[in-house]
Amino acid sequence: MKWKRILKWILLALLLILVALLQFSFWTSTNDCDQKAGLPSHPMKAIRYCEYGNPDDVLKLEDLEKPVPNDNQVLVRVRAAALNPLDLGIRMPMWIRLVTGRRKPKETRLGVDYAGTVEAVGKNVTQFKPGDEVFGGKIGAYGEYVSAVADRAVMLKPSNVTFEQAASVPVAALTALQGLRDKGHLQPGQKVLINGASGGVGTFAVQIAKSFGAEVTAVTSTRNVDLVRSIGADHVIDYTKEDFTRTDQRYDLIYDLVNNHSFSERRQILTPDGICVMVGFGGSGWHDETWVRLGGALNALVRSWFVKQKFVIFLANLNRPDLKILADLMESGKITPVIDRTYKLNEVPAALKYLEQGHARGKVVITVD
Ligand SMILES: NC(=O)c1ccc[n+]([C@@H]2O[C@H](COP(=O)([O-])OP(=O)(O)OC[C@H]3O[C@@H](n4cnc5c(N)ncnc54)[C@H](OP(=O)(O)O)[C@@H]3O)[C@@H](O)[C@H]2O)c1
Repeated sequence: MKWKRILKWILLALLLILVALLQFSFWTSTNDCDQKAGLPSHPMKAIRYCEYGNPDDVLKLEDLEKPVPNDNQVLVRVRAAALNPLDLGIRMPMWIRLVTGRRKPKETRLGVDYAGTVEAVGKNVTQFKPGDEVFGGKIGAYGEYVSAVADRAVMLKPSNVTFEQAASVPVAALTALQGLRDKGHLQPGQKVLINGASGGVGTFAVQIAKSFGAEVTAVTSTRNVDLVRSIGADHVIDYTKEDFTRTDQRYDLIYDLVNNHSFSERRQILTPDGICVMVGFGGSGWHDETWVRLGGALNALVRSWFVKQKFVIFLANLNRPDLKILADLMESGKITPVIDRTYKLNEVPAALKYLEQGHARGKVVITVD
């Protein structure tokens, strides 16, 4: 009996220590906004956020120090940047803040996708020279300059696309390419259904799947039926009128950006060896529905271990070889980025609020003068 009581006290003490540690790390969590810095000697305008919260409240256009490229980096003058749902991390739910910074965000700069002109290169950089037009991915894209490691996620921009179009490519098009190719193993002649086909990722997924020689069925709402047809969809299902799971049709691949159907509903429209790639959980940002859809995706993932069809969740990664593939696809005209709206750098909060509504038609882009 005595050892049981001792064990109980030890467990209680450990729990108290854990709570105290969490509390301590919460109150001591800090970021670079807390450091007293003088006026920047080489200022540039950039968006920064020091606290989590609503775009209007926390996003500020400030004068920050212009980055200096190291020996392996390029300094890019940003001409355009593109929004992604991941930017809505400024409203991170509590449990994700364990990773991103408990009380305050560790990373205070926003935006990833950019396109612009190389202004300077480090002494080891051989791939680029000043004046080159490039696009790529680097945190802090909502600013006048970014510095990026030359052999990571930077690529020469094809001359037949604008800076706005090139900026809209990295995260969204890589998500489409890697999901269809690496997780979906899409082959010519296969039937693929893309749920959420008219958004930032979906408009690339339709075009990339067509470039693979697949037969594409796009799921979208009434107002976007013509848009997804115009970028190559062979068949269109208007989700406001028809449920795509109630059909005799069978698909080799479901590329799912919405995850609003159950495991069983999706399984019954897959071929016996079919794959469902679960990419997004119901539009941009975090809302009540996101939890339900994330739960549904995890449920589908586990249940698929016991059946022949595969259900997979994946996260895209930024890399140079895949950016090269996308640059070639743009150059050959096989993909043309679809741009919904453009905003100015000081309008990033308004742009994010628009994206957050979850009904963008293609990409939302920031132009940087
Ligand atoms: N796994 C990864 O690495 C990764 C990378 C990027 C994005 N994502 C995720 O992928 C999802 C999509 O991203 P995105 O950039 O394409 O978002 P987005 O640009 O905001 O597009 C959302 C699209 O979803 C469509 N939609 C909304 N409800 C729908 C429904 N019930 N059925 C079919 N379509 C519906 C909307 O079309 P309508 O206006 O016609 O409704 C809209 O075009 C997000 O959840 C995002 O977080 C994941």
